[in-house]
Amino acid sequence: MFSSLARLRAIAFTLSFHAIFSYASESSLFTSSVTYCSTPETLLIQQFDVEYFAANQSVSFNISAESVDSNVNVSASLLVNVFGIEPVNITIDLCGILNGALCPLPEYNFTGSDSISLPDSISGIIPPFIFKIPDLEGYAQLTLIEVGTGDVKACVQATLSNGLSTRQRAVEWTTGGITLFTLLVALWHSHNPTAILPYRLLDLIYLFQSIAVSALLDLNYPVTYISFALNFAWSLSLFSSSDDSIQDAINNMRALTGGGLANSTSSSAVAFVNRKLSPFNSDSASSSSGSISTLSSLARRTVNSSLLQQRDVAVVTSESDNVLSAGIPIYVSTINIATANAFMTVFLCTIMLIAIAIFVFGVGWASLLAMEKFRLGPDERRSRLKRAYPSWVRAWILRLSLVMFIPIVVFGFYQWTLNDSWLSILFSVIAFLGIMIAVCYPSVVVIRSVRRSEPSVLYTEPFLLNSYGPLYAQFLPSRYSFFLPVVVAAFFKAIIVSFISSSGMAQIILFLILEVALVLRVLILRPHKVRGADIFSSFLGIIRVVCSGLMIAFVQSIGVKPIPRYALGLVLDVINSITILVVIFNIALHSGIQRLWKRHETSTPSSRSSSLHGSSDVILEKNAASSSEDSSSDPFGRPRNPTPERNVPLDPEVNQPYNPSSPTGTTTDYASTRQRDSESTNFGSVLPRRWSFTPLHTPTDSSALDHSTPFESTLSRTSEEQLEKASHSRD
Ligand SMILES: *[C@@H]1O[C@H](CO)[C@@H](O)[C@H](O)[C@H]1NC(C)=O
Ligand SMILES: *[C@@H]1O[C@H](CO)[C@@H](O)[C@H](O)[C@H]1NC(C)=O
Ligand SMILES: *[C@@H]1O[C@H](CO)[C@@H](O)[C@H](O)[C@H]1NC(C)=O
Ligand SMILES: *[C@@H]1O[C@H](CO)[C@@H](O)[C@H](O)[C@H]1NC(C)=O
Ligand SMILES: *[C@@H]1O[C@H](CO)[C@@H](O)[C@H](O)[C@H]1NC(C)=O
Ligand SMILES: *[C@@H]1O[C@H](CO)[C@@H](O)[C@H](O)[C@H]1NC(C)=O
Ligand SMILES: *[C@@H]1O[C@H](CO)[C@@H](O)[C@H](O)[C@H]1NC(C)=O
Repeated sequence: MFSSLARLRAIAFTLSFHAIFSYASESSLFTSSVTYCSTPETLLIQQFDVEYFAANQSVSFNISAESVDSNVNVSASLLVNVFGIEPVNITIDLCGILNGALCPLPEYNFTGSDSISLPDSISGIIPPFIFKIPDLEGYAQLTLIEVGTGDVKACVQATLSNGLSTRQRAVEWTTGGITLFTLLVALWHSHNPTAILPYRLLDLIYLFQSIAVSALLDLNYPVTYISFALNFAWSLSLFSSSDDSIQDAINNMRALTGGGLANSTSSSAVAFVNRKLSPFNSDSASSSSGSISTLSSLARRTVNSSLLQQRDVAVVTSESDNVLSAGIPIYVSTINIATANAFMTVFLCTIMLIAIAIFVFGVGWASLLAMEKFRLGPDERRSRLKRAYPSWVRAWILRLSLVMFIPIVVFGFYQWTLNDSWLSILFSVIAFLGIMIAVCYPSVVVIRSVRRSEPSVLYTEPFLLNSYGPLYAQFLPSRYSFFLPVVVAAFFKAIIVSFISSSGMAQIILFLILEVALVLRVLILRPHKVRGADIFSSFLGIIRVVCSGLMIAFVQSIGVKPIPRYALGLVLDVINSITILVVIFNIALHSGIQRLWKRHETSTPSSRSSSLHGSSDVILEKNAASSSEDSSSDPFGRPRNPTPERNVPLDPEVNQPYNPSSPTGTTTDYASTRQRDSESTNFGSVLPRRWSFTPLHTPTDSSALDHSTPFESTLSRTSEEQLEKASHSRD
């Protein structure tokens, strides 16, 4: 039942990803934004919607424009740029056509919409694949140049789209829903400090965050990569809609406190992207080439304000200061959050999260008090719950802080680089100090406790384990400090994203160095208690190294052509999608749905304990125990000689049959695949993960919540049983 659920979820997820590429509402090509590429003089545009339908080979348009100059003779040139290629670049002297009806250009108001069929000869020039590829990068540019003087009289650019994108609401909701589901299961499991799901929850969120953060660098990303990464903007707590009262409130707050930067708008941000970047790809950013000098002289000229009042089309030239540069500005503006609003959006979201957390903790405490008052349940259990509750709350506050660490630090730092509202900066300093305290205080407590005695105190002292276990409980006692490099790397990434934001090359190289260092650490030290967790962590780390390495091709100065860049973007989308599926699959295996069912069928205390903690805990414990015994002789804290856990036929990390006699087919397959990598197997490289919270188990009973009997003895007994049964089932 459980595996069919997991499979269902995986299928639904795959389908929604697949939908991105297969679903095509209707083959069409339309203008997704319109801007002037020089100060408007002759031609004023209020609206410019043009759409080509492949099905009936017709063009529908809804245009409102006027030509206002009298007595000017122009030639018109039309340029179409798709992925840096210019299939159309024609110039027509308007005096030479239609018997000179357009010469001089008539003063004329045009407002109208219609749909007209095109002759086959024209419609045939559009290659069909244009309608099929997501995140098309292309634009059309119309320039009117005065005959004789060569002055640019009008220049209009319109970006083209076919409506397909790798950014899909369905993916946002699915991934958000899965995260919420994991959170609920993790809350349920977290009464046991060694439960796996809470670590997997952080793994999942951290994966989403690292995909989103990878789109914040100063690189010339293909549009498809940014669109894909925007699916996970919610993991950085960037929420917005095009009609957003929160953004309006932030706009007002900034305006009242000295903020002068642009406000959030509901219009498309693609129009403001720097013309050298995707989707414009005009390395002849001189595209209105030859006339660069003309453009700058125009930009300097005072704009006739009475002409501009009625327009809602922006002027975006190579000189104007409203262009969006690569990195955070393009990323956040694409979801209608102004660059200067990004931090405040994160901040308000954090406050809401804190309010929700306080509410949940309060409800929990109130129910405990109510149980006390009405004497529900056995006294002993109640007092145990009450004693354990503060630690449980502390552990979840710590997890929440780890989740919010990256968004607050990245956008807080970035806010400091903007010269904007002092109130935003004040809030960002407060938030930064708050998150640093929330993360550093537990770290200091952990390290100080070890200094005072020894690492094993972390795993035997219930207060430490229950409150601060989220930091270290998944690691071997000798590797307890492994959480530090992960947090420090996240901190450095925030610095790299925010303070080196003008050099994409430096950013991506530093990212790559950090990722490689983290991976090597995991590969060499193998910090987790279970080999499965090391492999899982290495897998995620290697993926991050590979992705960072591939992204070097996006560095602007390397100048990779748009089509290979686009293909690489799709490859990265696919790699990341597969990684997400792997993590979700792993979570499904650990969610323990089947154990909830089984519990009702089993009634003896010992089988209950085994079903609650699973054989994996048991084996882990053995593993950890034997490791620590050997650690004196082994610098890596791992047994070099075959120890019983090597002979366990089922991978302890993935397989938690609490009914080993009937393991599901899926589980067995997965487990046996992993089982094959014996310790001698060389995986080549390993991967560090910044927050490799993988499921770990403590070696000794530290759960103050669950057991009043010595955990050790129950466990070792159960483990023998499990091992025996497991090997039988294998035979
Ligand atoms: C053209 O655009 C205007 C303004 O957006 C709108 O009111 C009108 O309905 C549109 N016409 C058609 C045929 O779509
Ligand atoms: C524009 O061209 C027409 C026809 O060639 C000519 O009569 C007129 O003088 C020209 N106007 C200007 C301003 O050059
Ligand atoms: C075009 O419309 C504007 C108002 O939208 C009006 O002021 C102007 O006189 C019109 N021009 C012509 C040539 O009709
Ligand atoms: C072509 O199809 C589109 C959408 O199906 C429709 O809006 C448009 O009116 C059609 N044009 C013609 C000329 O039939
Ligand atoms: C932003 O919006 C506020 C009010 O919402 C306004 O007072 C302020 O001038 C706007 N700032 C800019 C740069 O447009
Ligand atoms: C378009 O073609 C003209 C010559 O016909 C050339 O001068 C111009 O540079 C071309 N435009 C671009 C953007 O390549
Ligand atoms: C702006 O344009 C209007 C109408 O086209 C014209 O009457 C006015 O003189 C122009 N103002 C300036 C400063 O050029």
